[in-house]
Amino acid sequence: MEGRDVAHSAISMSQMIWPSMAGRAGFAHGGEIMKMMDSAAGVVAVRHSHRDSVTARVEGINFYLPIRVYDLVTVNACLTFVGRSSMEVLVEVWSENIVKETKVHALTAYFIMVAVDENGKPTEVPPLILSTDRERALWEKGRKRYQACKGEIMTADADYKVCRDEKV
Ligand SMILES: CC(C)(COP(=O)(O)OP(=O)(O)OC[C@H]1O[C@@H](n2cnc3c(N)ncnc32)[C@H](O)[C@@H]1OP(=O)(O)O)[C@@H](O)C(=O)NCCC(=O)NCCS
Repeated sequence: MEGRDVAHSAISMSQMIWPSMAGRAGFAHGGEIMKMMDSAAGVVAVRHSHRDSVTARVEGINFYLPIRVYDLVTVNACLTFVGRSSMEVLVEVWSENIVKETKVHALTAYFIMVAVDENGKPTEVPPLILSTDRERALWEKGRKRYQACKGEIMTADADYKVCRDEKV
């Protein structure tokens, strides 16, 4: 399968925070921001794999800084690592007050997206072509998270196993 570079799928999406997306105190609902992040990660995954994709896991969502109503939120997303069917997407969120011209890095998280076929089963994705030192460093960190997830969570975590085996 032909590889694709990081730039092929990387995206940037911006959205103003409107009052309907915020609480009474004027801070954006966390879920609104997470939805934007998930959408961006999904676009990256589909662009790389040319397949449908699902969100399997999210690592590292921490809201250290508030995002306020009428801030312009920009979500930058790019691939850091790919396995056989899974793709790790780095999602960075920037929040900008366009009146005061101030911009802060609000948060960063990693979304694990899995490419699926017509039956919803995981399917192989193209290799990721790395071009820069930063991309190679991010790949290495992503590879470690991938291995840690396979080892510690997917095999050792009892709750995870129960959830996967449950039938309704
Ligand atoms: C993600 C999903 C397709 C994986 O299916 P599965 O039969 O468990 O697949 P496997 O165990 O063979 O794993 C497939 C790949 O996904 C990865 N993966 C699966 N679950 C994962 C998780 N929770 N965290 C990280 N990676 C995960 C595996 O490491 C594997 O990666 P690789 O192919 O690159 O080695 C399946 O669990 C699913 O459909 N989940 C629901 C997804 C969804 O609907 N998301 C929206 C939220 S409602």
